Amino acid sequence: MDLLGSATIFLAICLACLFVLSAWRRKIYGTKNLPPGPMPLPIIGNFLELKAKNVSESLRRLYNIFPRIMDLLPGPHKTFFKNLHDVQAFISKRVKAHEETFDPNVLRDYVDAFLLKMEQEKHNPQTEFTRENLAMTVYDIFIAGTETGSTSLRYFLLVLLEHPDVEAKIHAEIDRTIGRDRLPSIKDRIEMPYTEAVIHELQRYIDLIPLGLTRLVQKETQIRGYTIPKGSTIYPILSSALHDSNQFENPRKFCPEHFLDDKGAFKKNSADMPFSAGKRNCLGEGLARMQLFLFLTTILQSFRLKHPPGVTQIDLTPDVSGFGNIPRPHLLCFVPR
Ligand code: HEM
Repeated sequence: MDLLGSATIFLAICLACLFVLSAWRRKIYGTKNLPPGPMPLPIIGNFLELKAKNVSESLRRLYNIFPRIMDLLPGPHKTFFKNLHDVQAFISKRVKAHEETFDPNVLRDYVDAFLLKMEQEKHNPQTEFTRENLAMTVYDIFIAGTETGSTSLRYFLLVLLEHPDVEAKIHAEIDRTIGRDRLPSIKDRIEMPYTEAVIHELQRYIDLIPLGLTRLVQKETQIRGYTIPKGSTIYPILSSALHDSNQFENPRKFCPEHFLDDKGAFKKNSADMPFSAGKRNCLGEGLARMQLFLFLTTILQSFRLKHPPGVTQIDLTPDVSGFGNIPRPHLLCFVPR
């Protein structure tokens, strides 16, 4: 018998075993006790954690397991690549527009500064200032700097909705420091320790990027008796620092006092690292901190947060928790103050 024939018989035996096992499990446990899986394939479905009720999530999961096969099939798992392509096309267009109006004496932004370096280093074969790196770094900044800020702010508002006492104290600090006649400015931050503490606590509590970004170990390293071999991939697990009970009194609770001393002044904490730590920590930390402060204070200067009619409480646990902690899609009302 040839190889194909043997493989077919082997597969048929496996499938038959799966169906017998499936029938037996149903008889013993009933269908209710099975974890979610599409009904035609309860065992395989459960093994792959496929969900009949959320087909697109299941397809994404399958993509991670069988990327080559899934590449050949149509479906929502392709949306990510389409969006990626659209963003890249947008960036290429913007770079071209910059090139057409480029003036080395008036650098307007990052793209202009990069174009100037490309010109200065055009005879250096080792240069990193290439067209491809320009497109990729703009893409990195674009991706790293948009969703992070907007998701944080969305989550912040939901957490504050559930903590009206904290919201009221921010309102009081805004009224005392900024008033109602001008917009908040970044200079106000230093005068607003309570709001600063709340923002730090919000970032700690929502734990936006729990695992951090991966690192490749460059040389064999000893840490506390463990040997980490060269070439290992490691996750810094920012979540473990942000929820360290030696550093935060109530690590699982939202408690701005984690970042306030007894006099009400802002108190730093070395475990507070939502932007990670080390040489390759978040490039946009300073900008992000400014954005979060300005957006939050500008919204709260004019509005009070309220549940929509009929809702008294919302679930603050993440909707999705993987690379990022993404909040559930709740409605909230902005009531003019
Ligand atoms: C709330 C907002 C943000 C959070 C929580 C955040 C968090 C992070 C984290 C945890 C990392 C991984 C750092 C590491 O590997 O050690 C990172 C990397 C990075 N972030 Fe942010 N980020 C935010 C906003 C921004 C903004 C506004 C920008 C740019 C405008 C930005 C650009 C980047 C870039 C380019 C990297 C890669 C740095 C590198 O690999 O050297 N981020 N960010």
